[in-house]
Amino acid sequence: MNAPAKTEEFAVKIPDGVYAETVLSVEHYTDHLFRFRMTRPAGFRFRSGEFAMIGLMVGEKPIYRAYSIASPAWDEELEFFSIKVPDGPLTSHLQQIKPGDTVLMRKKPTGTLVLDALTPGKRLYMFSTGTGIAPFASLIRDPETYEKFEEVILTHTCRDVAELKYGFDLVEEIKNNEFLSEIVGDKLKHYATVTREDYAFTGRITDLIENSKMFADLGVPALDPAVDRGMICGSTAMLKDTKLLLENAGLTEGANNKPAEFVIERAFVG
Ligand code: A2P
Repeated sequence: MNAPAKTEEFAVKIPDGVYAETVLSVEHYTDHLFRFRMTRPAGFRFRSGEFAMIGLMVGEKPIYRAYSIASPAWDEELEFFSIKVPDGPLTSHLQQIKPGDTVLMRKKPTGTLVLDALTPGKRLYMFSTGTGIAPFASLIRDPETYEKFEEVILTHTCRDVAELKYGFDLVEEIKNNEFLSEIVGDKLKHYATVTREDYAFTGRITDLIENSKMFADLGVPALDPAVDRGMICGSTAMLKDTKLLLENAGLTEGANNKPAEFVIERAFVG
């Protein structure tokens, strides 16, 4: 029997039924955070706010983790925003990627942080901590968000100011994009706070809702289930605490098959 050709040897390394995409750019923000962009497979469809399973071959084995797609549905590239965990099975390798490298992606995106899971409203809150901003990076760059809502409020809370940079870059990018800036106009408000450093806005978002400082800072009325809708993405504890506050304000949790007043991403822990 002939030895397998080199190309066949290489081909067996990529598991069946997954996309193998090429890294286009990588930007490191802090020792803990980076973003990367990669090619988008022809025929890969997703709704802004969904997540996909992203992976790398580590030795002979693929390792996958759930990653929110940070780019909007119309973008011809895919963007992801990631933490770096020194001993993380995937991120310890993923943080080393360079343009030209291959990243794996399972074929089916999914998720509940989608506009379809919310009933119509006027004001959309997106509550995020840390890398939980990623699905909202997608949604704030999607024109459909502004067709459905008169006002969009993105809250982002991190420990340090340096960790907020990705969010500020996103808002700047929207302003500098002729197509998006016209659609977004002044509908988008970005409320960035930190918890472990001095800054203009400090405190956990849960505290800032409870003591009403967030509403005062933004110049908006208290939460009202008749007009306000919410999406939440962050750590398990943050999801739980923020959900409770929305429920106390009279909002009910929705899902893809049962749209309601707010949604949470349970599969994503960032
Ligand atoms: P804090 O510094 O007070 O813990 P983490 O990196 O631990 O996920 O935290 C990201 C941000 O989310 C931090 O600013 C952190 O505040 C905040 N945070 C952590 N737990 C909660 C919670 N249960 N509710 C609201 N915010 C939280």
